[in-house]
This record gives sequence, structure tokens and C-alpha cells, in this order.
Amino acid sequence: MRTHHCTDLSAANIGEDVELTGWAHRRRDHGGVIFIDLRDHTGMVQVVYDPDARESFAVADRVRNEFVLRATGRVRRRPEGMVNPDLATGEIEVLGTSLEVLNVSETLPFQLDEYSRAGEDVRLRYRYLDLRRPAMQERLRLRARTASHVRRYLEGQDYVEIETPTLTRATPEGARDYLVPSRIHAGGFYALPQSPQVFKQLLMASGFDRYYQIARCYRDEDLRADRQPEFTQIDIEAAFVDESDVMRLTEGMLKSLFLEVMDVTLPDFPVLTWSEAMRRFGSDRPDLRNPLELVDVADLMSDVRFNVFRAPATDPKGRVVALRAPGAGVLPRRALDDYVAFVGTLGAKGLAYIKVNDRAAGIEGLQSPIIKFLEARTIERVLERVGAENGDIVFFGADHSDVVNLSMAAFRLKLGTDLDIVEDRWAPLWVTEWPMFEQNEAGALTPAHHPFTMPACSIAEMRDNPADAFAKAYDVVLNGVEVGGGSIRIHDHAMQRQVFAALNVEDERFGHLLDALRFGCPPHGGIALGLDRLVMVMVGTEAIRDVLAFPKTQSAACPLTAAPAPVDANQLRDLHLRIRGQGS
Ligand code: AMO
Ligand code: AMP
Repeated sequence: MRTHHCTDLSAANIGEDVELTGWAHRRRDHGGVIFIDLRDHTGMVQVVYDPDARESFAVADRVRNEFVLRATGRVRRRPEGMVNPDLATGEIEVLGTSLEVLNVSETLPFQLDEYSRAGEDVRLRYRYLDLRRPAMQERLRLRARTASHVRRYLEGQDYVEIETPTLTRATPEGARDYLVPSRIHAGGFYALPQSPQVFKQLLMASGFDRYYQIARCYRDEDLRADRQPEFTQIDIEAAFVDESDVMRLTEGMLKSLFLEVMDVTLPDFPVLTWSEAMRRFGSDRPDLRNPLELVDVADLMSDVRFNVFRAPATDPKGRVVALRAPGAGVLPRRALDDYVAFVGTLGAKGLAYIKVNDRAAGIEGLQSPIIKFLEARTIERVLERVGAENGDIVFFGADHSDVVNLSMAAFRLKLGTDLDIVEDRWAPLWVTEWPMFEQNEAGALTPAHHPFTMPACSIAEMRDNPADAFAKAYDVVLNGVEVGGGSIRIHDHAMQRQVFAALNVEDERFGHLLDALRFGCPPHGGIALGLDRLVMVMVGTEAIRDVLAFPKTQSAACPLTAAPAPVDANQLRDLHLRIRGQGS
């Protein structure tokens, strides 16, 4: 049907007769001459119809946006002054000799160039139109190149792609399961996998040595901009490896991916322990492009009069930090009020600050609502520790350490943006030596990653003091986004049972894994990267929806297919189900 794609054409084709297909992106009538911007999956070219060519001109006259066309014509140089430097084919145009309408289009629910004015719901309902936009096409193509490169890279390292079931038993990754009722087994349910975690470990017990899978995962959890109920992992597992082996493989894969697909040379990934990340950034996924750091000052506040600082400074679960904002003195008073409100939404009870006008002038050179509560010597030591200079503001967070970390980590990011000091670079890093568990108010433990992660302690220590255990786990973070996480796994039957005991998980639930550990399971470990998250960071969008062809909304619905949808009574009966509140 065509001799060229739209953007195949350049000055080199001048004089050639060509046949093109695509959509009428725009049609303009310029005093008797009709210009059609013809768009295909490669881009656009301008086709011109003169009234002299009466038949094709008449067809062109009927064309409306998004009509599907087949245009024949001759490539020519654009007249002087008509060259469009914004268009790859802007030097030339095609003088149309014939035009065929392959299909018509009604007026679109939103114009492609004005998509941002259409609501998210409309864009998702007509997703196939939204996907016609060159930006969306480019993102999905980059996603495909990413998956393709990853496959080639891993296969080059002897990784074997193996598919694992999606109708399975619950796989604990901390979210709720999507369940599928069984027709044959009344009252029985499959769970869709939250990850292939247990299966990939069983494949190590099977002797496959190196496994990978581009795996679909399902998690029923509160959705955010960077989370979808179904998403894709680059899932990796290998036998006879330690942390450094998995980290080296992953780092090598990401570096080669960025080089090939993005033409970007990633730096070596720095390694931060979890404790250091929390101390310096209040976050387990710090954005290292932002140079601001939290500085602990509790030791200076343990006997001050100001109870807001003294109480957390003397509480083992408390934290008092200072955050130096260079040059923030120029911010208007209103900005400071906004910051207090901002940290307030994250649970902080306030945001104390000291504005440094003239350090040499001592207390006289400072402006602050809290200096009256502190001794001059204490203030001086704080300013010294954070390296405050004239024109800076030093902010303070003081509370339970969880509150301080949450609010000050987010505030750090906000300040970085507001002060325009976020560096323009790629900032990957590893976060290692995670705590094994998180503890709730009642003292119950939940896994920080999943219950198959190898602790960095003995079985006896796990038995006596599980809450203090650290894990052989590692996360990979890129520009402040957690793009992947993994660990060395427990291959020892007794240790796995001890961890289940600490978590109050009954052995029967993972009897199949425990069995496998009894029959010569090799030491093993791995990682999973979120493919969607990774591509999201690569293309520089903050919404994971932008890198999925058919995503769900924030409420886990699909406006295109209207899923989830009710099913008819017979189907429910077959599945032995009854909807509560709808009678028998
Ligand atoms: P984890 O739960 O950390 O580990 O998941 C690995 C990576 O998957 C991505 N991810 C998501 N992406 C989009 N939407 C979601 N709802 C979502 N949840 C997770 C993140 C995350 O870093 N089995 C382990 C891996 C292992 O130990 O090998 C696991 O699933 O980028
Ligand atoms: P107050 O005595 O409550 O008026 O607080 C005095 C100053 O301390 C104000 O600037 C508050 O914003 C700040 N402040 C109050 N609570 C905290 C807190 N938990 N962390 C940091 N600053 C606080």
C-alpha cells in the first residue's frame, strides 16, 4: 500500500514519486491550496493538494482530522521561507497527485494535540486515540527496546527464561491478593501472583542455576502515581551467588541498557546502608541529585529548655534533625508558612527554623521563633555542625523518628526543587543491610521485604532477638525511585522455619517451599526490577500510566473495557459464589 514511511522522506527523495499511508493529523485550507499533515507511526510529512488536480483536490477537501489516507505524489523542496525546522521532514513536502480515503473518522472526543485538556477518564476510555500521540508511541517503543535489551543481556549471561504460573497460591509481598474462584473445587481460590518469588526459588532447587522472566505481577494495594494493580517485573534468580554477584549483574545490566537505549553512561552505583540512607536523607530511596542532607542534633538538645526538642532528643525512638537550606533566606515569609503546612500534612507538629542573616554578629544576626528557647552556645554548635552561612535558613524537625523521617525527607525534596539545586544527572545507588522486619505498635513483626530473605544472623539470634535482625537484602534506586529489590534467600530449612516462627506464619502455608529446602537446595539469591518503574524513570515521567498501553485508574478500574464488571448469576453459581446483600 505504501512505498515509504512518512519520515523516510528527505531532500534526497526530491523528484521521486511516492505512496504514503497514515492519518490526517491536521488539514489546512490556505486560499485554495490544501495542506495535509500526514502522520504515521514514524512521524509526519506535509502533503499539498492544488486545485489544478481537480479530482484529488475534491477528496482532500472532504478530509477531516484522523481520516485514514493513502496519498500518492511527488516529493519536492518546500518553497523559500516555508521550511519547518521543527519537523524531521520540514525541508520537503509531497505534491499530491491522488488521494484515497481508506477510512473516515468522526470528530474525536479530544483533539490529540489538546490531550492535556481532556480528563484522565476520557483519555483512558479512548486509550487507542491517546496512544496515537507521538509521545505515547515513543514511550511504548522505548519500553519494548528496554525489555528486548534486558532479554539479550541476560541470555548472554546464560540466564534461562522460564514462565511460572499465574493461577497459583498466595505469594506474600505485603499486598492483598487478587483471587480467582475455582469452579471445580468449590470454595477453593487461586491467587494471582504478587511476584514469582517462591517459584523462582523452586527453580533454583531444580538445578536451573540461572533464571529470568519478564513476569506479570498482581497486587491489590492502595494505588499511587508509581503503582499499578498489575505490573511487570524483570525477575532474576541465580544459584551459588552472594549479594555482590547479584548487584554486579544488575548494575552491569542497567549500565548497558542505558548506554544502548538512552545513550547515557551511568556512573558506578554508590552503596549506602539502609541506616546511612535513613540518617542522611530520612528515606530508604534517597534522590542523590538533591544535595541537601539531614544532620542529627539530638545530642545538642538533650538538656535544652525547649521541650519540642528536648523530649524527642531524650527518647530512644525520637529524632531531632537540622536541614540547612543554602540561600533560602531570600524566600518570602509566605513560603515558610507553606512549608509548615506541608510538613503538617505528613504528621509533623511544626517546622522550627533559624534564618542566618549575619553569622559574625552572633545571636543578633539570626532571626528565629525558637532562639529564645535555646542557649547561644547550643545555637552556635548547631550552625557549626550544618555549616550554615549568611543567607541560609536552617530548618528543624523533632518528633518520633518515623515522623521526622517521613516529613523531613519529603521537605528535603521540596526544598531542592524550590531552591533549584537538584542536579541534572542520573543518580543510581544501592541501599543494603536492611532491617529484616518492621514492627507495629503491638510489637508484631512483618517482613521488610518477604519472609524468604536471608537474615545476617544465626538461627539462635533469630530465635532470641528477631526484631534486631538485619537482612541480606538490597534495593536499587534511581533518581529517588525504587526500581528494584532483591536479596539472598534462605536455603536452610531450620532458618526458614525460625523466620516463619518470628512472623507467626504457619509452616503449612509454605510447605512446598520448606519441602524443597529439605532436598538439597543450593544457596541462591536474586532481584526483581519493576519494568514499568524503570521505563518511567528513563522517559522522565512521574506517572506509571504513561508507560503502560492500557493502565488502570487510581481506583483500579479500566474505563476502556469498564472492568471490573458484574457477572451473571449462572457464572456465580458455577463458581459457588453469592454476592453479599443480593439475596440468594
Ligand atoms: P518487590 O516487592 O520489591 O520485590 O518488587 C520489586 C519491584 O517491583 C516494582 N513494583 C511495582 N511496580 C508497579 N506497581 C506496583 N504495584 C509495584 N510493586 C512493586 C518496584 C519494586 O522495586 N519478589 C521480590 C523480588 C526479589 O526478592 O527478588 C519482589 O517482588 O520497582
Ligand atoms: P511552639 O512553641 O509550638 O509555638 O513552636 C515553636 C516553633 O517550633 C515553631 O516555629 C514551630 O513551628 C516549631 N515546632 C513545633 N513543633 C515542632 C516539631 N515537632 N519539630 C520541629 N519544629 C517544631
